[in-house]
Amino acid sequence: MERKSSAAILLLFMVFLMADLSWASKKEKICDKGWECKGVFCCNDTISDLFKVYNFEDLFAKRNTPVAHSVGFWDYQSFITAAALFEPIGFGTTGGKQMQMKEIAAFLGHVGSQTSCGYNVATGGPYAWGLCYNREMSPSQSYCNPNYLYPCTAGVEYYGRGAIPVYWNFNYGIIGDGLKLDLLNHPEYLEQNATMAFQAAMWRWMTPIKKKQPSAHDVFVGNWKPTKNDTLAKRVPGFGTTMNILYGDSVCGQGEIDSMNNIISHYLYYLDLMGVGREAAGPHDVLSCAEQEAFNPSSTSSSS
Ligand SMILES: *[C@@H]1O[C@H](CO)[C@@H](O)[C@H](O)[C@H]1NC(C)=O
Ligand SMILES: *[C@@H]1O[C@H](CO)[C@@H](O)[C@H](O)[C@H]1NC(C)=O
Ligand SMILES: *[C@@H]1O[C@H](CO)[C@@H](O)[C@H](O)[C@H]1NC(C)=O
Repeated sequence: MERKSSAAILLLFMVFLMADLSWASKKEKICDKGWECKGVFCCNDTISDLFKVYNFEDLFAKRNTPVAHSVGFWDYQSFITAAALFEPIGFGTTGGKQMQMKEIAAFLGHVGSQTSCGYNVATGGPYAWGLCYNREMSPSQSYCNPNYLYPCTAGVEYYGRGAIPVYWNFNYGIIGDGLKLDLLNHPEYLEQNATMAFQAAMWRWMTPIKKKQPSAHDVFVGNWKPTKNDTLAKRVPGFGTTMNILYGDSVCGQGEIDSMNNIISHYLYYLDLMGVGREAAGPHDVLSCAEQEAFNPSSTSSSS
């Protein structure tokens, strides 16, 4: 009698367990795309399905010409290898094909504009020169700021390096923590290893500057809902607000300045080259941050 009821309870428990498991597997389907992507976000195409070697060559056509400053450094494989760290959490794998292509173009638009040596009369046009640099050429200072968590290492310089250049000891420190690389002692990794250089830029794209703030990825793919304060500060979901997060008031809230429009133009140029077309980017007020207040105004933040 006692045996029978405990068996019944066990059976009931197993039924619950099985029901629970099937619910979980329905809710969170895991997809395995090999070394590049494994997890719920990997059920859509991966970046290498959508963005091929020839796309990379189209976007960064001039990077290996003799006048470029990092000849032979940047390549497609480094980009894809770096992306494999972030695709499982949604980088380039969110929202379906068009959104995925737009996010790749947006991220690379930042990269291209920040590493360009193009200018208005450059052959191929001003936007053909992304990935021309992998470091700041003539640093005017050593970018060391007294910092409790990330003190400068003697003899080490924290000038700009990488795909979205990293400046200052505390930025090398926090990105190094995020990637589990000792960038505080070895900032030079970002000018020696293109995979690490892309990883640092993707980490910045995927990670909020401060807790309770969105990442550039979040505002771009629509994961972020603006608060009343955001609306008052003219911050709306889209490309414009990615500039707010990455550069703050050095680019945003200054009206239609060239440095802002240059970043936007790289993004639009890449959308065209990737066959998505710049119309898909939406209207100028979504692309721009000309009227936005910075999430982190430079006058009140500890960083420069
Ligand atoms: C995968 O793509 C579909 C549209 O093709 C989209 O609705 C869905 O949100 C995507 N999955 C993820 C995890 O973003
Ligand atoms: C570059 O960095 C990646 C990622 O940390 C690493 O796997 C690779 O071995 C490095 N390449 C070289 C040549 O050190
Ligand atoms: C909204 O902005 C005001 C004034 O800048 C600030 O005091 C307040 O903390 C903000 N609220 C939120 C939720 O961020």
